[in-house]
Amino acid sequence: MEVIRQIAAAKKLLREESSKGRSIAFVPTMGALHPGHRRLIEVAREKADLVVLSIFVNPTQFNDPEDLQNYPRDEEADLKMAEEAGVDMAFVPTVEEMYPPGFLTSANVARLSSKLEGASRPGHFRGVCTVVLKLLHIIRPDYMVLGLKDAQQFTILQHLLDDLCIDTELTGVPTVRERDGLAWSSRNVLLTKKQRRQALSMYRALKRTHFLVKKQGILHTGELLQAVRSVIQTSGAELDYAEIVSRVTLEPLDHVERGGTYVLLAVRVGKVRLIDNTRI
Ligand code: PAF
Repeated sequence: MEVIRQIAAAKKLLREESSKGRSIAFVPTMGALHPGHRRLIEVAREKADLVVLSIFVNPTQFNDPEDLQNYPRDEEADLKMAEEAGVDMAFVPTVEEMYPPGFLTSANVARLSSKLEGASRPGHFRGVCTVVLKLLHIIRPDYMVLGLKDAQQFTILQHLLDDLCIDTELTGVPTVRERDGLAWSSRNVLLTKKQRRQALSMYRALKRTHFLVKKQGILHTGELLQAVRSVIQTSGAELDYAEIVSRVTLEPLDHVERGGTYVLLAVRVGKVRLIDNTRI
């Protein structure tokens, strides 16, 4: 596996590969790799000749400096896992390489970016869109593979690609969960045992919505959200938001539209903020 830290070197190597007719699948990450990322790499492997993984803790998508400082980092372990998983090139730039002095540009997908995660973390998606757009220009992948745990991010980035006519095909990979059901997240390592139990209420709440919709035929979102809130609040986790929205517009729905609906959750346990979702 090649480890490349400079934009110019990454471009040179990837343009050479493309000119030989080799297709490229790209997995953008912020490191702290876990089995969820391993699954993204597996899917990327199935799609293209060459798999590129980026590891970059992007400062512009953090609105809380403490969150940025505490974000788990372990480059050595990440590179080992990436190599074992079959990554061909790891792109690991520094902050100065990605945002040199004088950097002024940003990308934003209006409306979709200001709700849900965007309302709780102002500027977050502007940071995500800017860094992903820059990475896409550097890597020029045929495919980009993202986890669907970040459902809003996926919808926003699909919009960015469509709006700007970027010829990269986006693939969403279903959330990978730990054995107890907690969605894999780089932030899980920050949880104490008690916080982990509280965080698991998200999974219980999502399973409860499935039960209510599928077994009891309840489609009214007000009723479903009441059940979700009650599961979360009983656990002691602090609910940031629970919303039932259209998968396409991310607008709240009065009634579940089967196949086209997301239940989106964000909770805080201590200083750790986690998200999860399910599709109904
Ligand atoms: O989902 C993430 O890990 C990040 O938001 C991404 C897409 C790598 C951009 O920094």
